[in-house]
Amino acid sequence: MKIDIITVVPELLESPFSHSIMKRAQDKGLLQVKTHNLRQWAINQHGQVDDYQYGGGAGMVMLCEPLANAIETLQKDTVYDEIIYVTPDGPQFNQQMANQLSMKENIIIICGHYKGIDQRIRDHFVTREISIGDYVLSGGELAAAVIVDAVGRLLPGVLNDETSALFDSFQDNLLAPPVYTRPASFRGWEVPTPLLSGNPKIVDEWRYEASLRLTELKRPDLMKE
Ligand code: ADE
Repeated sequence: MKIDIITVVPELLESPFSHSIMKRAQDKGLLQVKTHNLRQWAINQHGQVDDYQYGGGAGMVMLCEPLANAIETLQKDTVYDEIIYVTPDGPQFNQQMANQLSMKENIIIICGHYKGIDQRIRDHFVTREISIGDYVLSGGELAAAVIVDAVGRLLPGVLNDETSALFDSFQDNLLAPPVYTRPASFRGWEVPTPLLSGNPKIVDEWRYEASLRLTELKRPDLMKE
């Protein structure tokens, strides 16, 4: 899978994909993440990519021309399944969307800044808008990093234990059960005995029950879905 990210602050995205699982995914050739500095497509030598908004009001708007040129340049080499704009007014990102996106071949993510991007880019290029939550970040880069991470780890072969993503929280609209490691007793705090039974059926039953209880307690909204 290839993900091209268009940003005015590529430096913000240097680190998130250079370590741990995202690095491994790229080293294995399963994921390719490329950032593109929008200023390459600036409208003048001053690197201008934004301007005042029509109608007045505080805050700059990212210009059509650099964004359209950036997208069309990328499209010369690649057919994209999705052109995503990360924005706080989009539908909220969740595990189901991550699953859907992990099945795509090529994706562009546009990171906004300031007041956002000219609406005409959203109308004519963007195929999907995504918010990562009901709060406003100073730019779309961290949202893009969240999406790439959540999607990248789902690609077949990325996680060592292929089955482990299947048991993540949210995969069945249930939270993952609590986990324990050695020692079995720490300061008198005991690991639940079913987990020590060595019987996979007993373990599975305990985990499923624990997931249900936890979801009911912490995220009852998931049970309704
Ligand atoms: N850009 C700024 N805030 C954002 C958010 N919450 N989600 C996605 N993109 C954003």
